[in-house]
Amino acid sequence: MIQVSRHDIVIVGGGGAGLRAAIAAAEAHPDASIALVSKVYPMRSHTVSAEGGAAAVARDDDSEELHGFDTVKGSDFLGDQDVIEYFVEQAPRELALLENWGCPWSRNDDGTVSTRAFGGMTTKRTWYATDKVGFHMLHALFQHSMRFENIVRYDEFFVTELLTENGECKGVAALEIRTGEFHAILGRAVILATGGAGKIFPFTTNGTIKTGDGMALAYRAGVALKDMEFVQYHPTGLPGTGILITEAARGEGGYLRNADGDRFLVDYDYGVGNKAELGPRDMVSRAIIQEFEAGRGIDSKVGLHAALDLTHLGEAHINEKLPFVRELAKTYIGVDPVYEHIPIRPVVHYMMGGVDTDVNSATSMPGLYAAGEVACASLNGANRLGSNSLTECLVAGAVAGQNAMDFARGSSEGNVERLRGQAECESARVDALRGSAKGSEQISGLRQEMNSTMEEGCGVYRDHPSMAVAAEKAREIRQRASDLHLTDKSKVFNTEIIGAMELVNMVELAEVLAVSAAARKESRGAHTCRDFPKRDDTNFLYHTMAYQTEDGPRLDKKDVKLGHWEPQERKY
Ligand code: FUM
Repeated sequence: MIQVSRHDIVIVGGGGAGLRAAIAAAEAHPDASIALVSKVYPMRSHTVSAEGGAAAVARDDDSEELHGFDTVKGSDFLGDQDVIEYFVEQAPRELALLENWGCPWSRNDDGTVSTRAFGGMTTKRTWYATDKVGFHMLHALFQHSMRFENIVRYDEFFVTELLTENGECKGVAALEIRTGEFHAILGRAVILATGGAGKIFPFTTNGTIKTGDGMALAYRAGVALKDMEFVQYHPTGLPGTGILITEAARGEGGYLRNADGDRFLVDYDYGVGNKAELGPRDMVSRAIIQEFEAGRGIDSKVGLHAALDLTHLGEAHINEKLPFVRELAKTYIGVDPVYEHIPIRPVVHYMMGGVDTDVNSATSMPGLYAAGEVACASLNGANRLGSNSLTECLVAGAVAGQNAMDFARGSSEGNVERLRGQAECESARVDALRGSAKGSEQISGLRQEMNSTMEEGCGVYRDHPSMAVAAEKAREIRQRASDLHLTDKSKVFNTEIIGAMELVNMVELAEVLAVSAAARKESRGAHTCRDFPKRDDTNFLYHTMAYQTEDGPRLDKKDVKLGHWEPQERKY
């Protein structure tokens, strides 16, 4: 018999958005019970690896209007403006709150919060704590969460299914990784805060845990995945590992150079003026690829790359503002940026798409909410501005926590025995899969095929024939993933079964991504098509909605919520 536990709400994911949601719920409802379920110990969540900072208005030369417009423009006018307005309004309060909880924002000599420049932003708007922002933010959130006795943690539990009754979400079925036992963790509302899905690509800044689990859970439960075609390439990843070299390095004055030693971005006029290294990520990534294609990439034993030059900043500045960049470059590529250039190349970093939510972090399924990278509200539209996402975790996390609690208060627990029965079926399904040597497909082989399919078809530059091939291939891989060959029958810390379920999640999303991309015959933000190089507002100013069917994703459209920022040509 599986174990059943009952709470008011269940949060899946223990990173920035999940912890913020838990705190919001626990603070407002001290009598409520909040389950926080995470497949890793919360401090190992991917938020910890964020580096450069979190955006919010702090300076006299800045305003919510400006932050809002930068975000809308960065999104290539696909962002929903109600979400953007709410976000920019809440952002400063959230970052100040975080300081109250212990986040050591770097300060100016006069005691004010220090902000740094980031790509696509009009002014210095990015709050930072040297270049270890994710570490400090997650620490502050995690420690603060421990003050609430009503947050009940389920660390190292892998959620395999949403439990539903009459179309409402009532909890989750979860595998306890340590024991191999199944649990029904019930709550009258559930928040997904599981992060993105960068691992469907081979070269990414994302940690191994970012396998799109929450997106797949919602998709299988009938909720749409929105705008999955928009994948952000960060311009500066370390070749080989994909480790992030933060945009803060350019914000602090770093240059990008090509094989001729030229600061090539000054020749890429993004439209008006010249932001050079501080252009938005989609444009800077494209410029780097264009340099490669023009034969000006640097070829070396780590592969084709460009160079990030910080040598003119000086050791003191690098040590004060970018100590982690120095440490990472020295450790992982054997380069000391005080004296040498860091090899970099564009790397998959972030999914603009995700579970379709609104400004309330609510999905179309009553009782199901989503916040952070797993969700698509959509703040980021077709291209996210660097440093908006950490703040989004806080703003959307808080909203999700409050709204999920409100929903839970007005909703019934459901039939516990029936929900237990659902979880029992799920447990039986996973038991049958564990160590089942009947199948013929290897996890690692399929994963590699998925990775190369996505890189070939859905990279920085795309064209429709290759996207169609990727969609077809992704569909085939998804089908083959139901025939996995597993060998480990043990229950305790069986990482093979977790790997199998993560793969099944990823292949489903890979297909959605490729199919959504193939259907968008324009270039907008990070979706850059060689065969349709222009943005086409007449035919494509809409969100792509993908619904699961047995034959693969069924696509639909949803209107973009426009507002007082009229779509215009995107120039920098
Ligand atoms: O470059 C960076 O530090 C990344 C920030 C972000 O993705 O928001």
